[in-house]
Amino acid sequence: MKIYIKTYGCQMNERDSEAFAGMLVKAGHTMVSSEEEADVLLFNTCSVREQAERKAIGKIGYMRKLKNRRPDLIIGATGCMAQRLGNRLLEELPHLDFVLGTGQLHTLVPLVESIRADRRQVASILESEAVLTGMGSHFRPAADPGNWHAQIAITRGCNRFCSYCIVPYVRGREISRERSDIVAEAKELVASGAREIMLLGQNVAAYGLGGNINPPPPGHSPFAELLEELDRIPELLRIRFTSPYPTYFNDRLIGAIAASRTVCHNIHLPLQSGSDRVLREMNRQYTRDSYLGVVDAIRSAMPDVTFSTDVIVGFPGETDEDFEQTREVMNRVGFDNSFIFKYSPRPGAKSAERVDSVPREVKEERNRILLEDLRARVEKTLKQQLGTTVEVLVEGVSPRNPERWCGRTGTNRLIHFEPVDGLQPGMLRQVRITRAGSVSLFGELI
Ligand code: SAH
Ligand code: SF4
Ligand code: F3S
Repeated sequence: MKIYIKTYGCQMNERDSEAFAGMLVKAGHTMVSSEEEADVLLFNTCSVREQAERKAIGKIGYMRKLKNRRPDLIIGATGCMAQRLGNRLLEELPHLDFVLGTGQLHTLVPLVESIRADRRQVASILESEAVLTGMGSHFRPAADPGNWHAQIAITRGCNRFCSYCIVPYVRGREISRERSDIVAEAKELVASGAREIMLLGQNVAAYGLGGNINPPPPGHSPFAELLEELDRIPELLRIRFTSPYPTYFNDRLIGAIAASRTVCHNIHLPLQSGSDRVLREMNRQYTRDSYLGVVDAIRSAMPDVTFSTDVIVGFPGETDEDFEQTREVMNRVGFDNSFIFKYSPRPGAKSAERVDSVPREVKEERNRILLEDLRARVEKTLKQQLGTTVEVLVEGVSPRNPERWCGRTGTNRLIHFEPVDGLQPGMLRQVRITRAGSVSLFGELI
């Protein structure tokens, strides 16, 4: 069968879609890039904000026309919204053939094949640890120059239950994969051209802690041990990871990153809010000061480190003063990048019991202010890079200008440059920065 997959949501979902494609191709099916050519349409959905759900429901609803024309078409919803709504989604969208939950990723192929043989609506949403068996599949067309980058999911689920967040409900309990499986997967990916590997999990730094919700004691970090083992794979040039929960950065983990050959000095450290009161109500287990303490500890071990973050504006009861505290912490850390979200109540999550009290216009205004702060800060830090020489991992032709190529520093800055003969994606090269734009840098290969 010809399969088309559309993915919503985060990198975990992107990775799941890749695993779906890997399993389907291994079973003899083909991936296609348009809905019109496909025999099976998969919508891998997200639930994190209301808008994400609305988008996917709208899109799947729209597919009814296609199905009227081609009644053989199989349409399935997977991912977090599929998990959350289950049978309700099948009732709401009668042309949907199946709903496959996040714990059943590994059963996609037999499910699709059985629906083709015996048409009926199916909802399969049981949580299962057997899902780990499907998480290692990859889809890497042999001649793809994009092969320099690969992603590996090292944990699944989340046990943290931040009060605003639906993820623990739709992704289930946190489980870690075997270290030997992850290392074997990384070696295979490197053999197929990967030079940079991104490790994924809702809280990657909880890797190997058996779902315990307390951060590891000083000196102990199974995640650090995993990084050290991956660091020894000869042709692997870079390791990145997302996201670590701030309180899991102990001496052991920071030391391992600082001493490693491959782990990039760019840390995504979700802040969510800079107000202690809001943090407490969010059930985030740190304060403004302890968060800043983590930033300082990482910075003193790696002075060139850059940070990015996630922030929510308009959490119930967030005052102007709370917001100013968030702004102040953000300016103090000097994030290179930040993902700012307007609070969206998620039915089932704890904070949804409270009134969504901050008006939409106020959320938008706070969002705008943080984006403007970010823009001004980025412009300034990019200027400071002028004249320096940096190492980039070559990514290939610039998406915006086919005459240029681009590459990224370990600190996650994108640099554009004129290509030279023999340049290949996945190489490390030195570049001197000659020009700073408002969002990107330009340089010359050395
Ligand atoms: N596990 C990751 C986050 C996954 S969700 C972590 O803890 O870093 C990605 C981001 O979406 C979160 O960091 C948060 O900023 C945002 N988010 C989650 N639930 C939200 C909600 N109900 N409304 C608005 N933003 C939300
Ligand atoms: Fe959601 Fe918090 Fe888990 Fe991240 S750590 S997925 S924000 S509950
Ligand atoms: Fe990711 Fe959305 Fe699910 S952010 S984990 S796809 S709810």
